[in-house]
Amino acid sequence: MERVSFTQMKDGTKEDYEFLTAHEIDHTKHTAQRLLKALVELDEGLSGYQITRLGHSIQSATRAWRDGADTDWIVAALLHDIGDIYAPYNHDEYAATILKPFVREQCTWVVATHGDFQMLYYGHHLDGFDENKRERHRGHTYFDDCAEFCERWDQASFDPAYDTLPLEFFAPMVEGVFARKPYDPDVIQPGTRIPLTGTPRA
Ligand SMILES: [Fe+2]
Ligand SMILES: [Fe+2]
Repeated sequence: MERVSFTQMKDGTKEDYEFLTAHEIDHTKHTAQRLLKALVELDEGLSGYQITRLGHSIQSATRAWRDGADTDWIVAALLHDIGDIYAPYNHDEYAATILKPFVREQCTWVVATHGDFQMLYYGHHLDGFDENKRERHRGHTYFDDCAEFCERWDQASFDPAYDTLPLEFFAPMVEGVFARKPYDPDVIQPGTRIPLTGTPRA
């Protein structure tokens, strides 16, 4: 079989759907490669900063890596702005949706809400923005983690002079994360907080 028999889903056979499932499994194996490609495309977006969105993403991941963060944190830092291309008004939720089946709940939540926390750094300069937007999350299990994520890795990573590692350095980590079993409770670890920083790496 090269293609399914149906033109409406309701007419599909068991054979059709088994065939599609096999295709889908093959397709999902390449998620990491597609995401790395999408990251490179971030290079074209959003001018005006001293570094590109791709540069900002890799710099965030580099800082996470140097801070001794674990793989979930590093990949979350690398992909936290990947939504900028297609979802400029909810880029944080977009990135979190991509990460959700494959990283710790803590990291997904932090990526999903980082937009609100980042306003602390610029909201007071602009009309219609609330620098205290993060306060709506006060009391949440991961509030302090998101505050630290933004302070250490996100808001700090716009420096063209910083010694940022190449994207290729992080590719095996992205591949490893997206090769995990989706929604594996051992990965998601609901409610678990792992510190952002560990033993510093050179
Ligand atoms: Fe962001
Ligand atoms: Fe960012």
